[in-house]
Amino acid sequence: MEHPLTGSEIRFNTMREKISLLLEEVRTFAAANAENLEQFRIRFLGRKGLLQDMFDEFKTLSVEQKRDVGQLLNELKNAAQDKVNTLMETLYSSNGSSEVETDLTMPVNFRETGTRHPLNIVRNEIIRIFRRLGFTVSEGPEIEDDWHNFSALNFPPEHPARDMQDTFFIEQDPDIALRTHTSSVQIRTMETTKPPIRSIFPGRVYRNEAISARAHCFFHQVEGLYIDKNVSFADLKQTLLYFAREMFAADTQIRLRPSYFPFTEPSAEMDISCNLCGGKGCGFCKYTGWVEILGCGMVDPNVLENCGIDSKVYTGYAFGMGIERITNLKYQVKDLRMFSENDLRFLRQFESSF
Ligand code: PHE
Repeated sequence: MEHPLTGSEIRFNTMREKISLLLEEVRTFAAANAENLEQFRIRFLGRKGLLQDMFDEFKTLSVEQKRDVGQLLNELKNAAQDKVNTLMETLYSSNGSSEVETDLTMPVNFRETGTRHPLNIVRNEIIRIFRRLGFTVSEGPEIEDDWHNFSALNFPPEHPARDMQDTFFIEQDPDIALRTHTSSVQIRTMETTKPPIRSIFPGRVYRNEAISARAHCFFHQVEGLYIDKNVSFADLKQTLLYFAREMFAADTQIRLRPSYFPFTEPSAEMDISCNLCGGKGCGFCKYTGWVEILGCGMVDPNVLENCGIDSKVYTGYAFGMGIERITNLKYQVKDLRMFSENDLRFLRQFESSF
C-alpha cells in the first residue's frame, strides 16, 4: 500500500510543478513595451517576487529535495534574468518596435537643450567686442592673496576696501581672501607678460554685502588692460566709445566723470546715454539721461613698477565693468537675485545662439 505523502513531499511536488509552469511562462513571454517588461521583472526577480518566495520555501525542504529543486530554481532564475536582458536590449535599441529600425521618419527621442544664462550671453558679447579690437582673454583664481587683490594695486594698508565689511577673508590667514575684483588678474598678467599687453579679464568676484535686489555677495566683472608705449587717455576714451556703441546702439553717447581708484590716475567713471529713453530722461535714469556703466583710468605708475614694468617707458589704461549691470541695462532685470535663483521661467526668456 502506498504511504500517504508527507507535508514536505507535497511541498516538493508542488514546487516542481510550479517551477516548470513558470519556466514555460518565462520562455514564451514577450514584452509589448518597457512598462510590461518592468512588471515582468518585478514579478519574477523583484525583492518580493516569485523567485524570492520560492527560495524562502526551498529552505524548508530536505537535503535531497533541495538538490533537485535548487537546480530547477536556478534554471528559472537564469531564464528570467536572460529574458529581461534580451528584451531590454531590443526595447532600447529599436524603441520596442522592429519597424523603427527601417522607418527613418519616426521621431527621435527628443532631448530639450537648455538656454544660455543671460550673464553668459552678455559676457560673451563683451568678449567678442573687445576681441575685434585685438584684446585677448585671461582668467585667474577666485581665491587671492593680499598682494594681487590689494597691495600691488596701490591700496594703502588702511584703505576701507580691505575692511571686513567688504572683503571675505578666511579666519586662518589674513593674507587670503576671495577676490573683490578681477583687477587681481591684471596684476598677474603684468607680472608674467612683457608689454605690449592688451587683455580682458572676465570672472566672478565677491564682496561681503547683504543680499538684496540691488546687491549680492558675488557678481561678475570684465576688466580690461592695455599697456604699451604712448598709450593715452584718448585711446581709452575711443575704445570705450566703440564698446558702448557695439554693446548698446550706434548712436549711444558716453560721458566721463572724474573719479578715484587707487590703481589708476587719473580715474573716471563712464556713463552712457540712457538706452531706454535715448537720453531724454526717464524713471530708469532718474531723469538725468545718463546711466553709469564702468570705472576706468590710466594705470598708476606705482602699479606698473610693482609688476616690474618700467613706468618711464610704458603707460597704459584699465577699465572694469559689472556684467550684471550691463545685463540689467540690456534686459531691464529688476532684481539681481534672479540671476542666481535658477528659475527656469526667468532663464528661458534669454534664447540665444551665442
Ligand atoms: N576694479 C574696479 C572695481 O572693481 C574697476 C576698475 C577697473 C576701475 C579698472 C578702474 C580701472 O570697481
